[in-house]
Amino acid sequence: MTLTDADYMARALFHAARGRGRTSPNPVVGAVVVSADGVVVGQGYHARAGEPHAEVHALAMAGTQARGGTLYCTLEPCSHTGRTGPCVPRIADAGIARVVAAVQDPNPLVSGRGFDYLRSRGITVDVGLGVGQAAQLNQPFFTTMRERRPFVILKAAISLDGCMAAAPGTRTQLTSAPANRHAHRVRAEVDALAVGVGTILIDDPHLTPRGVFREQPFTRIIFDRRLRTPPTAQVLSTQAAGPVIIVTTADAAAQTAVRDPLERRGAQIVTADGSIRAGLEAVSARGITSVLLEGGASLLAAAWDEGVVDFVRLYVTPHVFGTAGVRFLPGRRLPPAMLAERRVVQLGPDVVIEGYVHGPR
Ligand SMILES: NC(=O)c1ccc[n+]([C@@H]2O[C@H](COP(=O)([O-])OP(=O)(O)OC[C@H]3O[C@@H](n4cnc5c(N)ncnc54)[C@H](OP(=O)(O)O)[C@@H]3O)[C@@H](O)[C@H]2O)c1
Repeated sequence: MTLTDADYMARALFHAARGRGRTSPNPVVGAVVVSADGVVVGQGYHARAGEPHAEVHALAMAGTQARGGTLYCTLEPCSHTGRTGPCVPRIADAGIARVVAAVQDPNPLVSGRGFDYLRSRGITVDVGLGVGQAAQLNQPFFTTMRERRPFVILKAAISLDGCMAAAPGTRTQLTSAPANRHAHRVRAEVDALAVGVGTILIDDPHLTPRGVFREQPFTRIIFDRRLRTPPTAQVLSTQAAGPVIIVTTADAAAQTAVRDPLERRGAQIVTADGSIRAGLEAVSARGITSVLLEGGASLLAAAWDEGVVDFVRLYVTPHVFGTAGVRFLPGRRLPPAMLAERRVVQLGPDVVIEGYVHGPR
């Protein structure tokens, strides 16, 4: 059987996916080296930020067999010195004759310069094979590079009649055990989880991923413009899971009598202009590339109105709360049918519906 470029790129994408949930704020990247006579002689992936890039692993495995061969990589090889050195001179020095890359790196420090360098050294460069999958694997990195904010997943549990709680000011357990397990598992895949201060005041949640393995610290973000988070909030007793950031306004942060007790409990106070977008930009500057917005009703509505939601995940449960219920996105239109690349999965008595708001980009 003769293998094609598409087969080798599929293999590189498989390796890239092995880094999921580990490389942030770096992208996940996979690479495969095929010798001049068509044998896979090297492969690798980027395992953690600060560790060697995928191309370096694949070239090291290939050794002298890389000479005259083709390198398949899921992202443009880097041309700048970050925590590790640039990859493109190593590719040229290894004698690679052709590079097939899925997508150009949106990082302004690279963005075509890697390809230019390779071409200047006489290497053939083909770009675009597997671009859809490669971009999808790296949504957080791409969103961060292009929009200076994290990739945002809106998550909510709703009743059949579209409510997030049975009544204002109450905590309502909506989802079943299988849906809860799913919700904890997806917490393991993002850099941070965010809620509004209303949810802290009403539900007093821990906001930790439970029953799942997570390699990186899990940041919890509270959108709280008036610093109403009580220093006794349970989330502040879970710092072992990762930092707690309170996004507030400069005015509120200036009230040291309110701020100091929160900082003594380990909260990091970050200021922004009160919008969700500005808050997201502020946490992006701290290396957060993906955020799961978990509620409550007001915060989700504000994020939706600001157009900062990239992906929606709804757990639809068989409850009906009627007019007393707290509505999900009241007065706004979010028909699940409009979600791109929609997926629907049954979880016990609940159904999770998820998809992209604008399609993967
Ligand atoms: N079913 C679910 O999936 C789910 C998930 C979580 C919560 N809930 C439920 O939702 C309810 C809580 O919802 P909630 O609406 O009261 O509270 P919330 O959405 O958690 O928090 C709302 C607060 O966030 C603050 N905030 C900060 N920046 C904001 C911005 N740019 N725009 C809007 N608000 C901003 C506002 O307070 P400041 O103006 O003081 O900053 C606002 O009052 C509870 O019943 C809870 O059980 C349900």
